[in-house]
Amino acid sequence: MDNRPIGFFDSGLGGLTCIPYVLDALPDESIVYFGDTARTPYGSKAVSTIRGFAFEIADFLVCSGVKMIAIACNTVSATCLDELRTRHPEIPILGIITPAARTAALELPADGRIGIIGTKATITSGAYRKAIEQYTSGAEIFETACPAFVPLIEEGIIENEIMDLTIRYYLDHFISYNKIETLVLGCTHYPLIRRNITRVYPQLSIIDPSRELLTSIRAELANRELLADLSGMTPPENIFYASDLSENFVNMISRILAGSDAKASFRTISLEKK
Ligand code: DGL
Repeated sequence: MDNRPIGFFDSGLGGLTCIPYVLDALPDESIVYFGDTARTPYGSKAVSTIRGFAFEIADFLVCSGVKMIAIACNTVSATCLDELRTRHPEIPILGIITPAARTAALELPADGRIGIIGTKATITSGAYRKAIEQYTSGAEIFETACPAFVPLIEEGIIENEIMDLTIRYYLDHFISYNKIETLVLGCTHYPLIRRNITRVYPQLSIIDPSRELLTSIRAELANRELLADLSGMTPPENIFYASDLSENFVNMISRILAGSDAKASFRTISLEKK
């Protein structure tokens, strides 16, 4: 049993899409989340830059006393998971790609056609393809980067024509030419436009890695006997840090927590070395 918080991080508010699943399934757990809103997006930056940012955040979360880090970011999981584990062997560090790839392989017909969408860094890494191929051999895998999605989502441009046109711009040809049946939302920001994608392509079945991360978190906490047990005590406050606390970030957390007993505080912190 371990009542220390779980650390989550992302380049911005995308990783928040993982949080409702955790609060729902593991109500005794508390959360420290870091959104690097001042430096988002990560996905079009060099791998060495992404790695530097990820190291700073992981160091910060470890200093904050988390018992585990769940990387709520496909880009970081795709580019520097091993390096983060080497840097912090003292706690488990989970990536988001393996659990999503496992689900994709399980749900897919043996000769299924699967599309992966993500940031440039995620798609260039080939991490999803490699992970899915570990679980299945017959599937046809197609990948494409959609770099304009994240900046629009961070700006809150979601339920409107601009987002729908951007979706069509990236995906019309990709989906029809490759006859995609299943689409993996390989960026934690993308569940926020899932409704738009389903509206434009209602025939697709969608896999949401933000949801699949919970499976790994739960299994890892149980295996290592790190599950929290509050035995009826009030859960500690969840802390949400951002490097630039935007209105969208705060509003999204308020929406996630509305109707639950979970408490939250918001803090701005800059990790950049002066
Ligand atoms: N939400 C992140 C991901 O899952 C990062 C997006 C970005 O900053 O480009 O890849």
